[in-house]
Amino acid sequence: MNAKVNVSGSLRTRLALILTGGAAIFAIVLFLVVRALAAQIAQQGQDSILNASVSSVLSTAVIRDGRVTLDFPYSSLSMLNTASDDRVYYAIYEGSTLLSGYEELQTPVPPPPDRPSFTDATFNQDAIRVATGTRILIASDGPRAVTVSIAQTQDALSETLNNISRNVAFLGLAFFLLSSALALWAASTTSDQLHRLTRSITRRGPQDLSPVVKPVPSEMGPLVGSLNTLMSRLDHTLARSEDFIAEAAHRIRTPLATVRSHAEATLQRVEHTENRAALQSMVRAIDESSRAAGQLLDHAMVTFRGENLALEDVDLTEILNELVQRMTPVADLKDISLSLNSKGPAIIVGDAILLQNALRNLIDNALKYSPMETEVEILVPQTPKISVSVLDGGPGFDVDEISTLSGRFVRGKSAQSKVGSGLGLTIAQEVIDVHGGTMTLRNRAEGGACVSLHF
Ligand SMILES: Nc1ncnc2c1ncn2[C@@H]1O[C@H](COP(=O)(O)OP(=O)(O)OP(=O)(O)O)[C@@H](O)[C@H]1O
Ligand SMILES: [Mg+2]
Repeated sequence: MNAKVNVSGSLRTRLALILTGGAAIFAIVLFLVVRALAAQIAQQGQDSILNASVSSVLSTAVIRDGRVTLDFPYSSLSMLNTASDDRVYYAIYEGSTLLSGYEELQTPVPPPPDRPSFTDATFNQDAIRVATGTRILIASDGPRAVTVSIAQTQDALSETLNNISRNVAFLGLAFFLLSSALALWAASTTSDQLHRLTRSITRRGPQDLSPVVKPVPSEMGPLVGSLNTLMSRLDHTLARSEDFIAEAAHRIRTPLATVRSHAEATLQRVEHTENRAALQSMVRAIDESSRAAGQLLDHAMVTFRGENLALEDVDLTEILNELVQRMTPVADLKDISLSLNSKGPAIIVGDAILLQNALRNLIDNALKYSPMETEVEILVPQTPKISVSVLDGGPGFDVDEISTLSGRFVRGKSAQSKVGSGLGLTIAQEVIDVHGGTMTLRNRAEGGACVSLHF
């Protein structure tokens, strides 16, 4: 009975994708920012050591015998030692004359005194960092500018950076995994709310059209609100349809009964054989119509209720007792003994009105198709499962017809001239179907039909 729903995508997947996607982007940005900051800090560290080294060399510059001389104090080189054995290069200029070191290191413009400059360069295909400082010495012939450049390869720096990057990558990954787990959790708790609502609605009995009162998250408020409105409208419509069915049955049967009683009364007065025959076939046609109207309306009611079962604990023995009482006058007309053989209450979960209708049709058949002065017995065995069997002493079924008799408007050979519409077994079959049971038709060994409903 599940209607097909047009589904496009999943809220949960969408939410999880957005959250994990966001976490991934955030982790990557975190990685890049932390790495850039770390690179900047590491570079500042190298620069300040290079600067200290340049300053300590510059501080040894003196003018001796009119010439500029410098020393490389031990500390100026030892401070540049790194774990990666970075190579150190230097160049010393007086003005633009190379006094010592590697010419290639000279910066294009010597920086002003006390303002060291730092540049990146490549030397022997290695990336190097060059620090350059200038000092003005006053000689007898005027000021002289001494420029010292000290360069260092960046192996230790890049190793530090790689270490940092690795750690930050791990951190980013851990962050990503944790946020993904959180995202999945958030997505599933969010969709859980929807599932809980779905479960609470599907678990209801079909007759339960009461509004959803359990608290739901505010986002689901409008949905539940319109669902409640829809259900109350449906409830109203269902109640009206039930009334309509009852009203229609009444309106069709009542005038037919009136016509029938007039026809019967007229029949008493008419003597002419031809007229009597006409009236008799008229009464029969009215009986057929009235029966058909009743059975059609019962069938409509069964179909309708079958989709909206009012499930409750039903005692089959009680229903059968009532039916036997009600139908005993009909049985008496044919001198049929109608008896119920049941050992106490037989409780099943079902729709009492539907079950009563089905059982009435089976008893009705047994009485209708049995000859005078026979027995109709109703058995209610409770083991292994509850079932109801109606046995009669009539002609039984034509074996070739058994499989088709519960079809709509199908009447069998045994129907002969009996009034009927071929809907009784259809109704019984539909009722037992919606109760999840089975109906079997068979002939008894001792003659007669046996129709059973197994629950
Ligand atoms: N107890 C029975 N004994 C013999 N034949 C039966 C019995 N019950 C049903 N049948 C056969 O099965 C056919 C279908 O039964 P069903 O109750 O569906 O229709 P109906 O009795 O003909 O009409 P109605 O809708 O008025 O009950 C009957 O026409 C009859 O031939
Ligand atoms: Mg019948």
